[in-house]
Amino acid sequence: MNQQSYYGWWQRDDLCYQHQHLFFAGRSVQSLADQFGSPTFVYSAARVKENLERLHGALIASGLAGRFSLCYAMKANRFAPLLTFLKQTGLCGIDACSPAEVEHAVSCGFSPAEISFTASSLSTRDLHVLARYDGLFMDCDSLHAIRSWGALKPGTKIGIRINPAMGIGRAANDKLQYAGETTTKFGIYWEQFAEALELARSYGLKVAKIHFHTGCGYLTPQLEQLERIIGHCMRFVDAAGGVERVNIGGGLGVPHLASDQSLDLKRWAEVLHRQCAGRGLHLEIEPGDYIVKDAGIFLLEKTFVEQKKNTVFVGVDAGFNLAPEPAYYSLPFQPLPLRYDQSPCTPMNVVGNVNEALDVWYEQALLPNLTGHTHLVLINAGAYSSSMASNHCMRGQFKEFLLF
Ligand SMILES: Cc1ncc(COP(=O)(O)O)c(C=O)c1O
Repeated sequence: MNQQSYYGWWQRDDLCYQHQHLFFAGRSVQSLADQFGSPTFVYSAARVKENLERLHGALIASGLAGRFSLCYAMKANRFAPLLTFLKQTGLCGIDACSPAEVEHAVSCGFSPAEISFTASSLSTRDLHVLARYDGLFMDCDSLHAIRSWGALKPGTKIGIRINPAMGIGRAANDKLQYAGETTTKFGIYWEQFAEALELARSYGLKVAKIHFHTGCGYLTPQLEQLERIIGHCMRFVDAAGGVERVNIGGGLGVPHLASDQSLDLKRWAEVLHRQCAGRGLHLEIEPGDYIVKDAGIFLLEKTFVEQKKNTVFVGVDAGFNLAPEPAYYSLPFQPLPLRYDQSPCTPMNVVGNVNEALDVWYEQALLPNLTGHTHLVLINAGAYSSSMASNHCMRGQFKEFLLF
């Protein structure tokens, strides 16, 4: 990797160096750091809206106008001002996966009828809370869920989350696959599908939706696999009969590395159109990552730079517990200096302040001489970061801001 590619691949109009200074959402990142301190997540409302509009645009251009809905997967980022903003755009509903998420989405302005609910391992307590929300659409992911929901809400419409035993994920990253060769807890397999339909019938439940989410982070090279998966899932749609909607889950990825090819939305939408349009089905998509990931940055203070044996370490004032994706899923968050520097880049390991071997933000990042730099920023920190944060080592404090 040369210096040029390091500084180049992630740049766009609202995230770039201007006169040597890093700008995000129209603000100098140094001024954000001075104002907010660190560690701080900063999100751009404009970028979130742009991402949503791009998805709408691609689906409409493919001929699916009026036949699709987007449900933002709030597990990606549930920051209340962000959810309120999303509601105000009118461009999406919500995908929720716990009773607390439903309560939170409602408190941010979404009506239960705008919420698609898909979760696993629901307790009796969970189900009683959910049953209070009239209009909430339940996708049952197990025979247990059909039985329990059927007892509480007989005669209603439900979705069934299925598991096609085929998975997808960023560049064959197995950790991001929810279905595939390994049997997972997600959804009902073909082998139990007839029993699931019979069980639903016994409670008078009408199976109006087939839902599947088979993995996360897919980009253009994975589109052929996406098409195979959707095609295969139509077998379940046909077997159920009377299905009105198909929910293909989320999973749309964004680039993390210079070598990543970003998702070709035109081709993606064409896949969906080819597989779904001729069947009179309404299409649901529930992306999280694609909507918020690249709309967030993580501001960090540099704590030390030191060579240990043959490796240079750069310490920052936050650990992997505040944004676990790099450690858990091997998804690197590119670190950037707040000032563009002409000095030659050398490889450095960016590490956090938690006593765990996992606590590495980025290995061998090409960074300039950091003397005189007080902060670093990590990009792609808008999804599965603050929402997955823990208080491990009592290092759980952070701030969050949504910029307009
Ligand atoms: C059922 C379901 N839908 C949607 C999503 C959102 O996925 P992504 O953020 O990759 O788009 C997830 C993520 O885990 C999920 O489990």
